Amino acid sequence: MAAALHRETWHPEAIVGRLVVLRRHRPDNLSAFARWYADPEVARLTRYQQTPLTNEELQRFFYSRIMGSDSFTMAIHIRETDRLIGTCAFSQLDGDNGSALYHITIGEHSGWGHGYGTEATQLMLSHAFRQLALHRVALTVFEFNERAIRSYRKCGFEVEGRARDAIFRDGRFWDEIHMSVLAEEWELRQRQEPTT
Ligand SMILES: CC(C)(COP(=O)(O)OP(=O)(O)OC[C@H]1O[C@@H](n2cnc3c(N)ncnc32)[C@H](O)[C@@H]1OP(=O)(O)O)[C@@H](O)C(=O)NCCC(=O)NCCS
Repeated sequence: MAAALHRETWHPEAIVGRLVVLRRHRPDNLSAFARWYADPEVARLTRYQQTPLTNEELQRFFYSRIMGSDSFTMAIHIRETDRLIGTCAFSQLDGDNGSALYHITIGEHSGWGHGYGTEATQLMLSHAFRQLALHRVALTVFEFNERAIRSYRKCGFEVEGRARDAIFRDGRFWDEIHMSVLAEEWELRQRQEPTT
């Protein structure tokens, strides 16, 4: 019972926002992942390699990283319809240093540009700082992914560095941008303009 309560705090069944609901992934979400990760535009924005994942790679990724008990991953659903549109996660959760890496992919093109991803990130940061007591959340993003960078800035992430010319895409090199947000900065912003 105590373990179940603890899990519910650490990794709840659902986190409810205004536009989206984050839910724990279910095994039958695999077919949506297969569709998203076969999409060249999703690969362009999220992966170093543009070749699609093989079926074996996809299954390994899904069952170890998405469904695995060590990972903190949530499915993103549109609140109004409950339609599954994407996934977001913390990896490299480091209790000693209070840090994690953040990842998000809205896999459905029709879900881009409506604020769903931005709200999902805000909900994840609120969970990270208030429930998981993390101190720092970091991420990396390709320089050409302007929508993602704008979204992250709106959530409080700041650029802390760049890996110069780390990615070759569309015929030229681009930087990989490193961003992070710290608990106290995020709490200060929440007091000024609450998002969750
Ligand atoms: C990146 C992502 C999470 C952003 O979430 P989102 O809900 O689509 O973002 P929003 O609708 O809140 O838009 C964020 C900002 O980008 C702007 N924007 C929207 N489309 C844009 C485009 N094509 N180019 C540049 N900016 C764009 C929006 O106007 C908004 O800025 P504003 O509020 O200042 O006007 C989501 O689009 C996504 O998952 N995309 C595909 C995968 C991906 O890129 N993942 C991130 C990898 S690091």
